[in-house]
Amino acid sequence: MQLLAALAAAAALISPVLGQGTTIQYTPTHNITTIYGTWASGSKNVITGPSFASPNNVSFHYPATTGMSYSFTTDGYYEIARYRMEGNGSAPNCITGVMNWAHGKYTLQPNGSITMTPFGDGYQQIQDACAAVSNFMQDYNDTELYAQWGISRDTTLGYILQLYQFDGSPLPPQYQISTSPIMLPTQPLRNVTPPPETPSRKRSFEQEENVQVDAAATNGATQIWSANVGLAVVGGTALAMVSALL
Ligand SMILES: *[C@@H]1O[C@H](CO)[C@@H](O)[C@H](O)[C@H]1NC(C)=O
Ligand SMILES: *[C@@H]1O[C@H](CO)[C@@H](O)[C@H](O)[C@H]1NC(C)=O
Ligand SMILES: *[C@@H]1O[C@H](CO)[C@@H](O)[C@H](O)[C@H]1NC(C)=O
Ligand SMILES: *[C@@H]1O[C@H](CO)[C@@H](O)[C@H](O)[C@H]1NC(C)=O
Ligand SMILES: *[C@@H]1O[C@H](CO)[C@@H](O)[C@H](O)[C@H]1NC(C)=O
Repeated sequence: MQLLAALAAAAALISPVLGQGTTIQYTPTHNITTIYGTWASGSKNVITGPSFASPNNVSFHYPATTGMSYSFTTDGYYEIARYRMEGNGSAPNCITGVMNWAHGKYTLQPNGSITMTPFGDGYQQIQDACAAVSNFMQDYNDTELYAQWGISRDTTLGYILQLYQFDGSPLPPQYQISTSPIMLPTQPLRNVTPPPETPSRKRSFEQEENVQVDAAATNGATQIWSANVGLAVVGGTALAMVSALL
């Protein structure tokens, strides 16, 4: 229902520009190539695998620009690397940066969604120029639902993966980097003590609130966030992909 409402809202926004279209629900049969391999958004500086995260010492290697990358194996494993920054309208100097890494098992669901269940060894680093604790590391273990996905082909950009978040909102388009996934080993890579039972919540990764400050946080404090705010989105492509849904 949430998805339908979101898609309807997107349709209402975009259809006056693009005109009439037929209704297409993406299912795995609509993809023109397989999802297996590695995908990356924008300028492709964020890539899953050892160039992004080192779970052995809970650290990150900072990419030149923000972005996101997803990898999928043929036998059901995924990995996500995300680097994003967010401005603050009421306090323009208060830029928040988030580095996020997770991996685990995914399932392509019959209703066209993807569910991703992490191993529990994921983590993220949050830097907030204006917060009392301005830089900290926390565990990240959210199960994620992607309501829809689809792959299209652009004559110059190649294959493009479009993921839609649990609420139907599209992520930036991701370009195919490699047909064989660039990933860290597909097993738990560090010991994490499960936290006490907390009510389960559905939210996007930046809204994690079960903060567990890690000793590594203080080590990472040297990294300085650049003022490169936001994820690169190829507007035309995003429009084209949404139009296929209408
Ligand atoms: C669609 O993609 C899935 C996973 O990438 C794959 O298993 C399936 O064979 C693909 N379907 C077609 C028609 O290519
Ligand atoms: C963490 O481990 C990676 C690779 O194992 C290494 O390149 C990096 O220098 C280490 N970082 C720290 C802070 O020890
Ligand atoms: C923006 O910054 C102000 C002042 O630090 C803070 O109170 C507020 O929560 C921030 N808003 C967001 C959306 O981060
Ligand atoms: C699609 O299936 C997933 C997994 O079973 C479920 O969580 C999700 O709510 C379903 N989506 C819709 C729109 O029914
Ligand atoms: C991660 O989440 C799963 C599912 O909610 C839970 O079973 C597991 O104990 C969690 N692992 C850690 C280390 O928190």
